[in-house]
Amino acid sequence: MAFSLATDRLVLDDLTHDDLPNLQRIARDPDFLKYVLVWLDTDEQIAGFLRNAIDEAGSEDRVDYILAARTKDTHEFAGLTFIEIDRQHRTTAEIGIVLLPEFCRDGYGTEILQEYIRFGFGTLGMHRVFGKCDALNTASVRLMERCGLVYEGSIREHVWLRDHWRSTNYYGMLAAEYSRPDS
Ligand SMILES: CC(C)(COP(=O)(O)OP(=O)(O)OC[C@H]1O[C@@H](n2cnc3c(N)ncnc32)[C@H](O)[C@@H]1OP(=O)(O)O)[C@@H](O)C(=O)NCCC(=O)NCCS
Repeated sequence: MAFSLATDRLVLDDLTHDDLPNLQRIARDPDFLKYVLVWLDTDEQIAGFLRNAIDEAGSEDRVDYILAARTKDTHEFAGLTFIEIDRQHRTTAEIGIVLLPEFCRDGYGTEILQEYIRFGFGTLGMHRVFGKCDALNTASVRLMERCGLVYEGSIREHVWLRDHWRSTNYYGMLAAEYSRPDS
């Protein structure tokens, strides 16, 4: 059965084979190339990523929700998002969001992250959710802080990402923090 989540202005739903051009746009976006630690440099890699996401969506033991963000009114593709449960321990999930440039800085990231936090704790019953980003990625840092994720630390310059040594910042939230009335 098709899976979907909803925010005020977006639907988050399973990728289909028709999303190949959308993923190609995301993978060639300068911000993606600068900040995202995923290698989707060739059309083969992008097609393989899409195949894996579609296979995982059909799995009975689903741990990866790699979902397209689409506008509710026109169904336009806005970005690629995911929440991925740690396969081994099943108590932590990572959230990630990459929007196309024309959808950035308009509150969509906030809507998506808030919905994934709700889904992660409420539906999936996670103990901790987290996000990680390039330390230079101000938008991502601001987004996670704004949604209440707490800075947990940084792994300094652990990988060469195309044109710089990438340091990765971690931001997390625990279930007890999510349910606390003042959170
Ligand atoms: C990072 C990203 C998901 C944020 O989503 P968004 O919809 O643009 O963010 P929002 O509009 O909800 O704003 C969230 C916060 O980020 C800030 N922000 C957004 N874009 C920013 C930018 N380019 N520079 C500085 N701050 C920015 C907003 O001002 C807001 O902070 P505030 O509460 O202090 O005002 C989105 O910008 C994006 O996809 N960027 C390109 C790819 C990327 O870097 N993805 C993350 C990989 S880890």
